[in-house]
Amino acid sequence: MDVGELRRLKDFRKVTVLTAYDYQTAKILDSAGVDIILVGDSLGMVVLGYEDTKRVTMHDMVRHTEAVARGASSALIVSDMPINSYDSVEDAMVNAGKLVEAGAEAVKPEGNVPGVVEALVETGIPVMGHVGLLPQTAEEYKVKGKKQSEADRIHSDALELDSKGVFSIVLECIPRKLARRITEAVGALTIGIGAGVHCDGQVLVINDMLGMEGSHKPRHVKRYANLEASIREAVDSFIEEVVEGKFPDKEHSFR
Ligand code: KIV
Repeated sequence: MDVGELRRLKDFRKVTVLTAYDYQTAKILDSAGVDIILVGDSLGMVVLGYEDTKRVTMHDMVRHTEAVARGASSALIVSDMPINSYDSVEDAMVNAGKLVEAGAEAVKPEGNVPGVVEALVETGIPVMGHVGLLPQTAEEYKVKGKKQSEADRIHSDALELDSKGVFSIVLECIPRKLARRITEAVGALTIGIGAGVHCDGQVLVINDMLGMEGSHKPRHVKRYANLEASIREAVDSFIEEVVEGKFPDKEHSFR
């Protein structure tokens, strides 16, 4: 599906978005029929083991976008623009171009960057906006827009991004009433994460929704699987069978 087709889904059906960072996961999500695969800079935490997204580089994003692009043929691929890759319009154009070359069909900078959005849209690169909690600059991860003044700013940022031509906007960790107000006010698709049910679609980080890491589970994450437990069980069995000389048996050996 292209961005035009996706945009037409507003008011028709909800849009599904999941992150992926590698070929195999992208292949599974694509064949399951996810609408959008986001190569998120959350890869900094879930793939690279950093504390946040601030150390993710263009090199990281290009490499993982290429891997995802090799695995996905139907879903729209959106790549995050990492921190400092869109400090100026010129930087944004060069770096978005690199992500497109790597296989992205749209890019996502964070925050209200109207000049960047305008320039990218003008050159034909579709843009997904991102307002609310902005991990690249946030000092702490908490719900944004509880205070009226902050809510009004997030609302006006979303409106400005919409007016510059973004095809969708991620609404991260904001109260659901604010998400509804924004969703009703913009033409772009709103994609919520911790923003309630009134958004036009929902996104989750794949590792979180699959239960890959058991210790931290923010309120907005629903675990649809417990892969950490499944992997642990498989690895425990492998260790036991190797140590006891049960693996490889005849079935898994050559004559
Ligand atoms: O990096 C990411 O995974 C994201 C989502 C949380 C929206 O930006």
